[in-house]
Amino acid sequence: MRRHNKTLITAALPYANGQIHVGHLAGAYLPADIYHRYLLSKGDDSLFICGSDEYGIAITIKAEEAKRTPQEQVDHFHEINKKLFERMGIDFSHYSRTTLKHHAERTQQIFKEHLKNGWIEKKTIHQLYSPIEGRFLADRYVLGTCPKCGYHEARGDECTKCGASFEATDLLHPVSKMTKMPLELKETEHYFFRFDLFKERLKEWLETKSFKPSTMNFSRQYIEDLKPRCITRDLDWGVPLPIEGTKGKVLYVWYDAPIGYISATYDKNPQLVNDYWLDPKTRYVQFVGKDNTTFHSVLFPAMLMGQNTLYKLVDDLVVNEFLNLKGEKFSKSSGNSLDLEAMLKWISPDQLRFYLSLIAPEHQDCDFSFEDLVVRVNSELVGKLGNFIHRTLSFVQSRLGCVPLIKALEEEDKTFLKQIQTLLDEGAAHYENFSIKKATETLLEMAQLCNRYFDHQKPWSLVKEPSKADRLETILAVCIKAVQFLLAQMQPILPFATKEAWGFLGLSNTPSRNMATALEIKELRAPSPLFQKLELEIKEGKVSESSLSCNLDSLKNATILHPLETQSPMIEFADFEKIDLRVADVLDCIIVPKSDKLLQFTLDVGGSKRVILSGIRHFVADPASLIGKKVAIVANLKPRKMMGIESHGMILSVVENGTFEMLSFEKAPSGGKIS
Ligand code: MF3
Ligand code: ZN
Repeated sequence: MRRHNKTLITAALPYANGQIHVGHLAGAYLPADIYHRYLLSKGDDSLFICGSDEYGIAITIKAEEAKRTPQEQVDHFHEINKKLFERMGIDFSHYSRTTLKHHAERTQQIFKEHLKNGWIEKKTIHQLYSPIEGRFLADRYVLGTCPKCGYHEARGDECTKCGASFEATDLLHPVSKMTKMPLELKETEHYFFRFDLFKERLKEWLETKSFKPSTMNFSRQYIEDLKPRCITRDLDWGVPLPIEGTKGKVLYVWYDAPIGYISATYDKNPQLVNDYWLDPKTRYVQFVGKDNTTFHSVLFPAMLMGQNTLYKLVDDLVVNEFLNLKGEKFSKSSGNSLDLEAMLKWISPDQLRFYLSLIAPEHQDCDFSFEDLVVRVNSELVGKLGNFIHRTLSFVQSRLGCVPLIKALEEEDKTFLKQIQTLLDEGAAHYENFSIKKATETLLEMAQLCNRYFDHQKPWSLVKEPSKADRLETILAVCIKAVQFLLAQMQPILPFATKEAWGFLGLSNTPSRNMATALEIKELRAPSPLFQKLELEIKEGKVSESSLSCNLDSLKNATILHPLETQSPMIEFADFEKIDLRVADVLDCIIVPKSDKLLQFTLDVGGSKRVILSGIRHFVADPASLIGKKVAIVANLKPRKMMGIESHGMILSVVENGTFEMLSFEKAPSGGKIS
């Protein structure tokens, strides 16, 4: 196993031009986060850097559509994405942005060095100029007559009618998209980076790497055909070109963005640039989606080779394929996309991380499917992994009530512990090789092994034999040890649940992967299931809206509940009569430990006591204030277990647009039938 004591990790800087979606997560951020967490858990030093990519013409165009200034546009999406990453548990050491002043200064400094070192060439080209606006216009700001079909409103880069693609200068009668006034061809100077001059150095460097074969081949090919590339644009949104008399010109976004990795590190703490970027002992790992390959495997390395500071070049470039939805690429514009915020209303971050890790598009594009997601989460995450941890912890809690100790290990215990250690080592190797898919499969294999051990040892029948007390305790101690192995392997993938489980084991600070130094467990706390089943109705490959309204998670975001006009279907009176609605007195109301949604009500219903859980914790500041209230309940709902507690019915309340009110009575007697 390789050991590297200092690792710098970056993940492609997402454009602050829209919300990150599930495809982005699967392609770069989740694998990077998992690798980072893995390194930390084995005691390595790891710095995980990212930030928003905020320049470029795509941003100015989207901003205009949204009637925002470009700065407002990026401010808006920078905040949104930062929060989404946090919610998903993407644990950046720092999340910066490229519109910071020191980033522009660093980029300009590097440009000047490139220029001075002879890697940049000025060329005079002809471009469309708007005399009224006093500036050159980029393709996307130009309209005109298609040279192929004569369509009048062809765009600067393609004709939306006949599909022809061309340069803006090929249009007949070009006009400005904004002012609709005619444009003229005018000479302008642009700057080209002579990537072609780096061919030999790049080739030599690339052959010292062991990126995936597909990445290697693609990059070799690209280097063969390297050409100078224009790195300036006529635009007023970007890093200004640091040359006198070039007002209105900025550096191309792909020139400044990768420099953003360095600026973002500086932004966290200037000293870290020395500690990581300038230390040859640092190992630098980049995570990107496959459409970003050449910028990272060829162009950015060439840029770094051409300037004067000895910044680290990438050591491992992890390129992922695409995650598809219904066989097509994720794309918001075509409506083929998974809105993360909407999904998080019915799935927990860990559940989503689990599924994305299992189907990770490491070697080929892969397909996201809701049906598959529900099956995998319910049968594997809940049914195998969650099941073993919960059955072990709750068994120990209820039957032993203390931390079990190993009395005497039998051969089968030793074999089991050896097997699970072997799997943990295999799991480590998968993390080292950036395969979160295999790491997750190994985790499930471990869980299955554990369940088999538990089933085979049958602790539930040993309980009945007092003479076997020592054997029982040993088995349970082995199972608790196995839980620790599972947590070690699952921690990078499922950080939220792992943390919760550590709490059950009475551990507060992060235990390490190294089982030899595993922390001793001194007390066990009452466990609750780590994962919930997904109970969703799926229609036409999508999660049906109607199944969401009864999902507890949706209560957190009351505004997504159905608006009134979407009425439920009509029912017969006889159907209504089946519902037994009753008045109940609230005897007690407490917060369910470890749950961020549930309140536990103890109620008196006509002289009999019952417990009902309700997902309204967010709306009740002081649960005790509800004691003494007379509320309405559905009394004949089938019991349902949540967080290990059985709930016998449902309390009626209204949650709409973030306001909350319980249906309640003044004088009606407890147990009274509501009709
Ligand atoms: N913003 C680009 C994208 O989303 C990625 C930029 S990566 C960087 O495709 F290296 F330039 F930062
Ligand atoms: Zn045309």
